Amino acid sequence: MSRLIIVSNRLPVSLDTTPDGSHTLRQNVGGLATAIGPYHKSHRDCLWVGWSGVDPEQYSEQELADIKQAYGQRRCVPIFLSQDEIKGYYAGFSNDTLWPLFHDFSHEATFDPGDWQMYQQVNERFAQVIAPLVSKGDTIWIQDYHLMLLPQLLRSRFPTASIGWFLHVPFPSVEIFRSLPWGREILQGLLGADLIGFHTVDFVVSFLASIHRLLPELSVDTDGMIGLPDGRQTAVDAFPIGIDYNLYARTARSSLAQAMRRGIEAAAGKNRGHRYRSSVAAEGDAAAEASSSEGSWWSHHSLEDLPELTLAQSAASSIGQKANKVIVSVDRLDYTKGLPERLEAFGRMLEKYPEWTGHVTYYLLATPSREDVESYRKLKAQVDELVGQINGRYSLLAWTPIHYITRSLSIKPVCGMYAAGDVALVTPLRDGMNLVAKEYLACHDGREGALVLSDMCGAADELTDAFIVNPYDINMVCEALHDALEIAPDEARARNIRMQARLKVRTASNWCKSFLNTLRQVTTPGMVDKRM
Ligand code: ADP
Ligand code: G6P
Repeated sequence: MSRLIIVSNRLPVSLDTTPDGSHTLRQNVGGLATAIGPYHKSHRDCLWVGWSGVDPEQYSEQELADIKQAYGQRRCVPIFLSQDEIKGYYAGFSNDTLWPLFHDFSHEATFDPGDWQMYQQVNERFAQVIAPLVSKGDTIWIQDYHLMLLPQLLRSRFPTASIGWFLHVPFPSVEIFRSLPWGREILQGLLGADLIGFHTVDFVVSFLASIHRLLPELSVDTDGMIGLPDGRQTAVDAFPIGIDYNLYARTARSSLAQAMRRGIEAAAGKNRGHRYRSSVAAEGDAAAEASSSEGSWWSHHSLEDLPELTLAQSAASSIGQKANKVIVSVDRLDYTKGLPERLEAFGRMLEKYPEWTGHVTYYLLATPSREDVESYRKLKAQVDELVGQINGRYSLLAWTPIHYITRSLSIKPVCGMYAAGDVALVTPLRDGMNLVAKEYLACHDGREGALVLSDMCGAADELTDAFIVNPYDINMVCEALHDALEIAPDEARARNIRMQARLKVRTASNWCKSFLNTLRQVTTPGMVDKRM
């Protein structure tokens, strides 16, 4: 029986060891795991090879065997990497060189020959682990920027195997790519694949421009077929990734998600205007009392000393004009996600439109990511500080503008959060696709809810009915956020229906099928012309 072997740096599940020594596996966060995980789960002929995420030094031989077995039960083959390999290959070359470079953050990129050497070594380790697993007729599908040398390493071992590679992040312009000292080697590594896939046509064009510039000896035809010296061809195309729409729509209706939604709505005073009405009014009353009642704590402070009470009064005066609203966002804490800029835009909205004071609550779910990389640690500190500043500046006695959650939540509470959001604020500075935007819309299946979306991500090409913004333009995001909060329910529903119709068809499962069908076609003699 031929199999599909998926290969990625990170497996779709991570190991948690409980105090009694037993192992449980939990779903990983990130677009790759979310999109391909369900396909792997539902296809019994599909194996997934990737880094175990655990340090082998910490475990005995027997424990490592148990860990392998726990992964094996999920049809996953774990690869164990040493601390030095993780430092050089994962934290270093993958996340401190390629990630910033591919997301147009060249100024964050480091070029360390030691990291490059480790990257080559670990790609070779992957090839060594995969080689004994491959049987005739198997398809090998390699994922993402961590494993760009692997296609060629496997090709040299299996000249006729069917090998695909897909990039889950943007491919940069040639001007940026060519600053990578090992760009030629990376491209040559990729060309071991029969099919190379990107999220958008723009990334395909950038990739072909890099091929043209760095490997001018190769020919590229008008269909994006690259002719190689050994007579093989590599096809290149765009495959915009989707989500499991029904899974998100259904999960948003689950009792746990609904409980989460109701909890958030209640905390934000939604559907119970009187809660804020009374609490904000009470603060307004307290302010009034502050100026009159002798001997009370308040009486020692003027309103100028207590700006929050002034705000409470102005908010109290706007009561009845505004319904309470919830904004949500869900991200890994990554500098490409534009969190500081987004927070600045939210703060600016509270400043420019003080009528939102007490009436809009921002649920910001941002899970720390890649904390072994300096730029990520700095970002975490920056976001913590900005949230603190905004909450410190605008909070009322009974209202906190931002609820900041840094835990990683599982799919049900995440869907509950999405469902509670009147507006989703999704403003990456650069992103290959961005699945969060799509998940939010699925969780609002048939309902209103407005999406403010960055034009710097692949999803913006598809979700054109969103409030599209330049994430660097703080004023633009501020105004779009205000407009999204004010949108009429009918208009929001109409916009969503158009976007949801597309998402229902372009699912993650169809994306997998489309890539694998194309791979089959380009590797079947005589079928190349029927690629698309
Ligand atoms: P990236 O792949 O860069 O992380 P995407 O938006 O494409 O960005 O995908 C992120 C995926 O991870 C989504 O499925 C989202 O639901 C999930 N996710 C992101 N952040 C969190 C979080 N803090 N808690 C739970 N799930 C998260
Ligand atoms: C993005 C990358 C994935 C990666 C994920 C989470 O989605 O494209 O390859 O798995 O981020 O990042 P991490 O470094 O934690 O695996």
